[in-house]
Amino acid sequence: MKDFNPSFGPEIARTYDNSLRGDEADTVRFLAGFGKSALELAIGTGRIALPLKESGVAVDGVELSPDMVARMREKPGGADIDVTIGDMSRVGTDRTYDLVYLVYNTICNLLTQDDQVRCFENAARHLASDGVFVIESGLPTWAARPRHQFIDVESLEVDRVGFDVNRYDPVTQMLDENHVEISADGIRFSPIRQRLTYPAEFDLMARIAGLRLRDRWGGWNGEPFTADSRRHISVYEVAA
Ligand SMILES: C[S@@+](CC[C@H](N)C(=O)[O-])C[C@H]1O[C@@H](n2cnc3c(N)ncnc32)[C@H](O)[C@@H]1O
Repeated sequence: MKDFNPSFGPEIARTYDNSLRGDEADTVRFLAGFGKSALELAIGTGRIALPLKESGVAVDGVELSPDMVARMREKPGGADIDVTIGDMSRVGTDRTYDLVYLVYNTICNLLTQDDQVRCFENAARHLASDGVFVIESGLPTWAARPRHQFIDVESLEVDRVGFDVNRYDPVTQMLDENHVEISADGIRFSPIRQRLTYPAEFDLMARIAGLRLRDRWGGWNGEPFTADSRRHISVYEVAA
């Protein structure tokens, strides 16, 4: 998908919070257990950072999109969070934290293995000696689909339809995806390009960054990670 821009623009920033995932309270409860200071990589509109700060954790952020941060600034408490604008694999703060976290599959927005490794190294640089890096990512199932290309129906009403057009390349691990909505108002495209990564590859990235796996869960409430899990929540600590 040529000309794809990984940073979320003004239109996405405006509508991003209209369809929350519903797991925000569970995410915050899980993350708040790791200490009193946190850095969110790809903080977005503060979907997690704002309630986490509200729960008593001092949160800083890194974010590529000034539009997403501007949206966070409009919300209560959003002006009080320090955000460094830039690429989460390269920029940060001069502080260390009890917790660095990167949720909602966003590691996959880094489109090369090198950048994903660099992101682990950047997270490790910001950890206190007993700090943890928590990452949440979906499990790629696309390789199992026939011909690695498919369309999923997302909504189907009498006056509008929404569907998702996908093409996956198992060699490069790149997924090109376009959410399409058609209604009387017109056609709306929401493209996204991701490099999908499996848990074992994340563990090697962690090792390169001087981290090691402490725990892996299948959900925010300590669900076991099994062959049926749809996502993993991995907790990495500084290797001795
Ligand atoms: C799916 S949103 C997640 C936002 C927030 N973490 C949440 O859970 O709601 C992905 C975010 O990652 C940001 N992003 C994408 N690539 C990035 C990069 N290389 N460095 C920093 N932020 C990035 C986008 O601009 C967007 O705000």
